[in-house]
Amino acid sequence: MRHFTSVHDIGDLKSALERARFVKENPFADKELGRDKTMLLIFFNSSLRTRLSTQRAAMNLGMNVIVLDVNQGAWKLETERGVVMDGDKSEHILEAIPVMGSYCDIIGVRSFAGLTDKSADYSENILSQFIKYSGKPVVSMEAATGHPLQAFADIITIEEHKKCARPKVVMTWAPHPKALPQAVPNSFAQWSAAAGYDVTVVQPHGYELSPEFTKGCKIEYNQDKALEGADFVYAKNWSVFDDANYGKVICKDMDWTVSEKKMALTNNAFFMHCLPVRRNMIVTDAVIESPQSIVIPEAANRVVSAQTVIKDILKTL
Ligand code: CP
Repeated sequence: MRHFTSVHDIGDLKSALERARFVKENPFADKELGRDKTMLLIFFNSSLRTRLSTQRAAMNLGMNVIVLDVNQGAWKLETERGVVMDGDKSEHILEAIPVMGSYCDIIGVRSFAGLTDKSADYSENILSQFIKYSGKPVVSMEAATGHPLQAFADIITIEEHKKCARPKVVMTWAPHPKALPQAVPNSFAQWSAAAGYDVTVVQPHGYELSPEFTKGCKIEYNQDKALEGADFVYAKNWSVFDDANYGKVICKDMDWTVSEKKMALTNNAFFMHCLPVRRNMIVTDAVIESPQSIVIPEAANRVVSAQTVIKDILKTL
């Protein structure tokens, strides 16, 4: 693997899950692999889990880790070519990226969708420039359209908890006060379909995701109907993908909040969310605190997904 930006980079998913299981059971088995190698983590956006789990994963592999928050302490970066830089941005990304690349062996990048320019977001404007100009392997730590490290951890978690070969997995839209990107639901839909699960995506009308990511998923608009018999409920908010309302919030219907009444429709489903989560918007206190909530082991598996990916890349250096 050279870069890790989507499910297509992981190779055969079954084999990747076996590698992940080895990593989880033997977290320090490859401590020599990363000796004298440096992982640079670049954050254009905030993070708790990705920051800590990716650092921990690299450290488990014996790597040195440098973390840079671009918006706190670094020069403000211009990302558009051809701009007369007479504003508040002191450095162009076209110099900054190769400089960053010269300080490390692998770069992790977090850069969210701006949600104003759909074509810029869906061309992965920032991530693709890191791939083009850094000269180093690039790991997506959530980009504009996908969050593959999260989705890989989600699939690892489902594999650990599933009680049948092909569980019914329902990803449901849920309300949120602010516009959020489609990256997490895009990747979860794509990875869970690739894992061969019986996947349903349920959302209010107008919230359909890109068909590129929901291929192989059933699409529903009635949450109660979708939840019937579910083995896993994955709650997530996302903003509109459709051109006319791209990046907007067009529904805040609290009837979509995942509650005990909703979970009662399922096959005693496990509750999942990538976190951070807005309690009593996305999910009620009772559901997230219930024995069926697996959000903490799900987050813990972020170390496993990151370590599996970084290990694969280190082996190619
Ligand atoms: N799930 C996730 O990526 O969490 P953070 O935004 O805290 O990194």
